Amino acid sequence: MKIGNLKLDSITVSAPLAGISNLPFRLIVKEAGCGLVCSEMISANALAYGSIKTKNMMCSCEDEKPLSVQIFGSDPVIMADAAAMTEEAGADILDINFGCSVKKILKSGAGAALMRDPEKTKAILTKIRAIIKIPFTIKLRSGWDQSGKDAFKIAKIAEDCGVDAITFHPRTATQGFSGKADWSLITAMKQQISIPIIGNGDIAEPGDAVNMLTQTGCDAVMAGRAAIGNPWIFKQIQMLLNGDDIAPVDLTTRFDTMKRYLETSVKYFGELHACRMMRSRLSWFVKGLPASSRFRESITRIKTQAQGEALIDEYFNFLSR
Ligand SMILES: Cc1cc2nc3c(=O)[nH]c(=O)nc-3n(C[C@H](O)[C@H](O)[C@H](O)COP(=O)(O)O)c2cc1C
Repeated sequence: MKIGNLKLDSITVSAPLAGISNLPFRLIVKEAGCGLVCSEMISANALAYGSIKTKNMMCSCEDEKPLSVQIFGSDPVIMADAAAMTEEAGADILDINFGCSVKKILKSGAGAALMRDPEKTKAILTKIRAIIKIPFTIKLRSGWDQSGKDAFKIAKIAEDCGVDAITFHPRTATQGFSGKADWSLITAMKQQISIPIIGNGDIAEPGDAVNMLTQTGCDAVMAGRAAIGNPWIFKQIQMLLNGDDIAPVDLTTRFDTMKRYLETSVKYFGELHACRMMRSRLSWFVKGLPASSRFRESITRIKTQAQGEALIDEYFNFLSR
């Protein structure tokens, strides 16, 4: 599948996840077979004001490529400036957030608020398209009611403005994660829009991705929550699509991945900060394993990479006995 002029090796995409999909997370997802990784949402305003911390969120490396960088905001000029910065920073795709419904973001007119402002949407998309050469995508929810009419309207504007693909998570802005994603709206979107549609919402198992592709006709699939602690879902989806049986993840792969995740987090964030972050993150990988509560409890105290690695090894040895 192609997004603009960019060809993806696989039609699996990992979702932008604020507070989670940083570079170390994306590296393990990529290594586990994902076709396209996405950054956390990044504030266009903070980029425009020169925040170093925000600029660092665009930090990337060759091993994770291609990378989609997502920005959010509502001012067309600031959004275009931020878009240019993402291109300059080496993003392979620029994505705009139209789905976030956190109060503060909505109040600023960004995220899902844009889904009821077609004029501003058009101004933002036109300005950005004129300024960047890299492929350009948007990520939508269904809008402000169940019908999906807001999403269809914004998608048409996007298509007319030269946007290269649309990710569609068919839940309303007010729905959060409650209820079920209405995949029939993805089918309807596919029928109305000719640029590629990346289907998103409720892919919990590899088989769900295959069902979404078959039921909706979407061009690619994005998984978010299911990849937290289970990055291998992307390879497993690809295996199913190739007609292969799914191989379960063996313990060695699982625990090696945890160590590499810790190691790259230390490399990018410094040892103490990374260890603080990894106290909860390493626990994602041991869900459902025997005596995992003991590991989860002990990992909450790590201050160094060596301590983390020792606990991972100790738990691995316990499980391998
Ligand atoms: C912790 C968390 C953070 C998220 N952050 C973002 C974000 O930064 N940008 C965005 O467009 N969507 C974000 N989302 C929504 C996901 O990208 C995705 O659309 C949603 O989780 C539905 O997919 P899933 O059912 O596969 O999880 C977030 C979701 C979660 C659970």
